[in-house]
Amino acid sequence: MKRIVILISGRGSNMLAIADACAREGWPAEISAVISSRPDTCGLRAAAERGLHTAFIDHRQHPDREAFDTALLQKIEGHAPDLVVLAGFMRILTRPFVEHFTGRIVNVHPSLLPAFTGLHTHRRALEAGCKMAGATVHFVTPDLDLGPIIAQAAVPVLPDDDEASLAQRVLHREHVMYARAIRWFVRDELMIEDGIVRHRSGESQLF
Ligand code: GAR
Repeated sequence: MKRIVILISGRGSNMLAIADACAREGWPAEISAVISSRPDTCGLRAAAERGLHTAFIDHRQHPDREAFDTALLQKIEGHAPDLVVLAGFMRILTRPFVEHFTGRIVNVHPSLLPAFTGLHTHRRALEAGCKMAGATVHFVTPDLDLGPIIAQAAVPVLPDDDEASLAQRVLHREHVMYARAIRWFVRDELMIEDGIVRHRSGESQLF
């Protein structure tokens, strides 16, 4: 059984999609813990209601980013995870933290990377006149929102879209894609060569 620790900061809808798929599809894995960077988030409450182990680590209780990341790393390692899943975790992580988990930490970002790293991705896609938008699941490297791409979901931008409607359409696809990407990981179905991630049996990595 692979052990998964999921990090969240708020709503936690991707975390719930992953936990549900893990249970429904009988992955060879368990969600060992859901850890939030903020206390009392609705994601944390929903995880607890499902019987998952929950914890939070409040960044305001730590003097700087290094101290926070050190405490977070210790909390995560207490669960000896095979995989750390960033699911709407809105903290920039330090290089030592990311390097500690190299090859076993993944993220979902709400854009078609490498376009629109950082914040307000849907607003920026609309302002740029993009005709496609989407989300990306990738291995985490010290470069913010970059790293080998595991899967991408592309959705059309509709003429009357605003930021909220586009975000909602992308989020639905994130849930399906992120759960599938993690299933691939826990089943050892991914390989990486020269920074390119491929599915061993050629399953489509486009959603
Ligand atoms: C998701 O849309 C995710 O792509 C985004 O935050 C949202 C979290 O929603 N992540 C980032 O922006 C990370 N850079 P959720 O808490 O309901 O899963």
